Amino acid sequence: MRMEGKVAVVTGGAAGIGQATAQKLCDLGASVAILDRNAEAGEESVAALEKSGYTASYFSCDVTVESEVKTAIAAAVARYGGLHILVSNAGIQRYGDVVTTTPKLWDETMDVHVKGCFHATKYAIPAMLASGGGAIVIVASVQSFTAINNSVAYVAAKHALLGITRSIALDFASRNVRANCVCPGAIDTPMLRQTAHLTGSPEKMLEAIGRMHALGRIGLPEEVANAIAFLASDEASFITGTSLIVDGGLLVPTGGMGFQESGIGTEGKQ
Ligand SMILES: NC(=O)c1ccc[n+]([C@@H]2O[C@H](COP(=O)([O-])OP(=O)(O)OC[C@H]3O[C@@H](n4cnc5c(N)ncnc54)[C@H](O)[C@@H]3O)[C@@H](O)[C@H]2O)c1
Repeated sequence: MRMEGKVAVVTGGAAGIGQATAQKLCDLGASVAILDRNAEAGEESVAALEKSGYTASYFSCDVTVESEVKTAIAAAVARYGGLHILVSNAGIQRYGDVVTTTPKLWDETMDVHVKGCFHATKYAIPAMLASGGGAIVIVASVQSFTAINNSVAYVAAKHALLGITRSIALDFASRNVRANCVCPGAIDTPMLRQTAHLTGSPEKMLEAIGRMHALGRIGLPEEVANAIAFLASDEASFITGTSLIVDGGLLVPTGGMGFQESGIGTEGKQ
């Protein structure tokens, strides 16, 4: 799984899963453009990659603003001479049920996840076609299949990403562009830690969330980055339109881990 000569764009690449993905793609030999609205974190991430001898650049970009995405992708393509990989990852977490969610919060959430992915793919795909084809990996969520309470806009946005993935896979298969998504469980990133801090005791909260996964812990950004890199690589040449769940078994137990461990089941009986 090598990526020498490949050019990758990672949205939201300044922190968390995106940052780990930028690192992984660099490890594999790709040149990486980080598109993020957080300039300080973006520049820091690039400086760390360059210090390791990697080829990486930061491009200021709010994925909700079409003109910024268009300009940033064009600048990345101009700098590296093509585009082969897009990781559409930028995201935010917002809370509310359908009654308490304001139209502003709804739009903000949908804009980052759904419109942001639309913008990124809209401008990345023509550059990929001009480069002979490419691979898109969209970062969705276990909440693309299920829901947690008080998160209707986020859940709706993550469900929508499955539709975008499948549509792109179908529309561009004949032109050598693949599209897949990864669906992470709880991953130890600034986003998850911010959520944990909303509760009284973040460490307890993170431990409790970890226990919901069959593997008994939350995941690391690098573990999602590994799955993204695989789907973006030529090793996944016959995989398109699918979703890879990277959740440490969060979605596996019927009724959740609490039910499995409750003793109500038939464990130990024949
Ligand atoms: N952390 C988890 O447990 C988890 C689980 C499932 C899915 N995800 C998804 O993974 C993706 C990355 O999440 P993370 O946990 O690494 O988050 P994070 O908050 O740690 O990092 C997100 C990055 O996206 C950037 N970003 C946010 N809005 C942006 C915008 N409008 N334009 C450009 N950049 C923007 C931020 O500046 C930041 O660098 C998100 O799509 C998230 O929904 C995360």
